Amino acid sequence: MTPSRENEWVIASDGLRGRRNGRWGQEKLSSFDDFLPAALKATGTKRERHFVDLFVGPGRNVDPTTSEEFEGSAIRVLRSSAHGDDSLHFTHAVLVNKDSDDQAALESRVERLRESGGCRIPEKHLEFLNVNANLAVNHIMRRIHQKAYALIFADITRPSHWKWSSVRALRNHGHASVDLYMLFPLHMAINRMTSFNSQTMEESGPALNEFFGTDEWQELVAQRQTDAQSRNLRRALLALYMDRLKALGWQHVLVARDVRRTGDAGLYQMIYASNHPAGGRIARWSADRPDDNQQSLFSRLVDLRGIDPKSCRPTPALAILVSGRPTVSRRRQLQRSHSGRGDRAPTQDRKGERRYRFLLPYHPIDPAQVQLFKRSQERFS
Ligand SMILES: C[S@@+](CC[C@H](N)C(=O)[O-])C[C@H]1O[C@@H](n2cnc3c(N)ncnc32)[C@H](O)[C@@H]1O
Repeated sequence: MTPSRENEWVIASDGLRGRRNGRWGQEKLSSFDDFLPAALKATGTKRERHFVDLFVGPGRNVDPTTSEEFEGSAIRVLRSSAHGDDSLHFTHAVLVNKDSDDQAALESRVERLRESGGCRIPEKHLEFLNVNANLAVNHIMRRIHQKAYALIFADITRPSHWKWSSVRALRNHGHASVDLYMLFPLHMAINRMTSFNSQTMEESGPALNEFFGTDEWQELVAQRQTDAQSRNLRRALLALYMDRLKALGWQHVLVARDVRRTGDAGLYQMIYASNHPAGGRIARWSADRPDDNQQSLFSRLVDLRGIDPKSCRPTPALAILVSGRPTVSRRRQLQRSHSGRGDRAPTQDRKGERRYRFLLPYHPIDPAQVQLFKRSQERFS
């Protein structure tokens, strides 16, 4: 399932409502995990560090394909501290949900986290708001001390959720240190909203005007004559948005994570905007980390290594195709974990994309593991 169906929910194993969300959601949150401890360290001299999650959801996600569960952004942040310093964490948090059922589930989870001793932010500095985020931004920012650090997370699923006037409000209250981490739903929604269908375009116009805070996107769309130019259009729309963030006063604006389905099919970008030189460095470092397609393939393979050799049968070796740029160390890791043989030179698939082939000497018999393998293969072949 792609994340475009925002409010599909299920009951998670803790008995509370959870959000149906798959691998892509995990990828988005993993970059968050990457830079949170570093951002906390970089802002350690501030007396207050505020986390504002404007589209917080119920606090737990359930992958509909694997049934795997993973914590949402807020729970991750409430637990987080700087590397090597447990006392350095966010001091305040505001958690905003439009949906009251999501908010009720979130509040119960935070309460349980506190009872278990896992919540680092004191109760008196935790605020839950059950409102439309766009109506609350000014109110929230006004109450944050101008000298405090504030990290704003806007995890939207479509442009109509997040208005440019709200982005501007983040900069309008005199704060010296505000970072924005937001989802830019390029392929998930904007692509469709700027399709060749004139009726779709007409319907999307007002929402996109409010999202971009300008109608300049229309000129970019008008320049696209053929489908072959759609990729350029997408790039230009992303650049327009990022330029506008810079014009609001953020010096470092970058794509911290480009989340893709498989191969070249994009999904969304995580944009990070910061004024702190360390903020830019941290996000760049997170962006340069190996992409999560490969990371998750590896963790799956490492999982397989743990299975009992007796449950494996010797069969013709399995070949796994890995897209992207596998580093030497990762190739070695794969070879070590599985005593397989990895090709040194890339092969090319029909679209001319570079692929690396790894031959693994065993085949798991356990049906669940076979399923896991098949899914990896589907994603990477
Ligand atoms: C992508 S989900 C959030 C996922 C969450 N960040 C996580 O890590 O699990 C977006 C949430 O924002 C909520 N939402 C949508 N529009 C909103 C708005 N205008 N104001 C506040 N919440 C909104 C949706 O109901 C949904 O629960």
